[in-house]
Amino acid sequence: MDTPAAVRARGISKSFGEVIALDEIDLDIAQGQIHGVAGPNGAGKTTLLGLFLGLAVADEGRLEILGSPVGRTLDAPGGVAGFVDGPGLYPSLTARKNLAALAALRGGDTHTADLDDALAQVGLTDVADDRVRGFSLGMRQRLGLAAALLTKPRLLVLDEPANGLDPSGKKHVHGVLTRLAAEGATVVLSSHRMDDLEALCSEVTIIATGRVVFTGPLGKLSSEHQELDYRLVTSDREAARKLATETPGIRLGDESGKDSGVLVVRTLVPALDELVVRLVRDGVAIRELAPVVSPLEAAFLALTETEAEPESGARQQESAR
Ligand SMILES: Nc1ncnc2c1ncn2[C@@H]1O[C@H](COP(=O)(O)OP(=O)(O)O)[C@@H](O)[C@H]1O
Ligand SMILES: [Mg+2]
Repeated sequence: MDTPAAVRARGISKSFGEVIALDEIDLDIAQGQIHGVAGPNGAGKTTLLGLFLGLAVADEGRLEILGSPVGRTLDAPGGVAGFVDGPGLYPSLTARKNLAALAALRGGDTHTADLDDALAQVGLTDVADDRVRGFSLGMRQRLGLAAALLTKPRLLVLDEPANGLDPSGKKHVHGVLTRLAAEGATVVLSSHRMDDLEALCSEVTIIATGRVVFTGPLGKLSSEHQELDYRLVTSDREAARKLATETPGIRLGDESGKDSGVLVVRTLVPALDELVVRLVRDGVAIRELAPVVSPLEAAFLALTETEAEPESGARQQESAR
């Protein structure tokens, strides 16, 4: 097996004046993966993805894209497409003419059928001859994706592609990315929300203040050994509340939903199981029971919030589990 990694980063650092945007990033992304880069605003996601696209160079460290070392000069590595901070488009041209113009800039032949196919893949066929000036953010993102598709990329890099997408746009984008990965291309996309990435990515890297706090398969991130807040709606809130306080390992959470009959309990899964058994035994019906935020979102928040304290031990690699 000597397929090179799509991305191999070792000790990548990048500063803007006093601000350390990336702080010794190590990262491996295998080919054919949809890899998510998650992190709060300002974590360094756009800076990192910009390095993959050759829009900036790192101050320190080694970066290999599709098996080739990235040099010290600004240049898009071969086989890579995508954009950060929204795609560059010509507002006065139509969607189709934008694609034709971008293709012409790259040189080489692009056939009308390819343009039509790219527009169809991102769901913009109906507005192909409308000027981009009137496009929403989501439509621009999809047109940028169509432009990237025309280059038949082996590595597609998208910064916050979910921003501004309506459910239909999201469906198209998910379809395109899933197809690309199935054909062996690699997709790296960022988001400040874990739930955006959950549906698409097999692996994620979480960065906080320029450092990797987790990298690995999604499954390793959510764990039964993690306390979560659960929303509990029963037929008898007061009885449920009393049972919750009596059950070892259960703490009552935010009580602001008192009037709506909702109880929030913070607990691990085994204690929650015990509470459910007790509720049923006492004839209290359970109408709703679900985590307030998904286990993955909770893990994301825990990892990115504790990282604010330097060297707090929150750094976590896949192997730590
Ligand atoms: N061109 C720049 N000049 C100065 N500071 C920058 C520049 N780009 C990014 N930064 C800073 O680097 C940090 C990381 O930014 P960024 O990569 O945009 O984060 P994210 O995309 O995760 O929100 C932030 O503190 C940001 O203010
Ligand atoms: Mg960003």
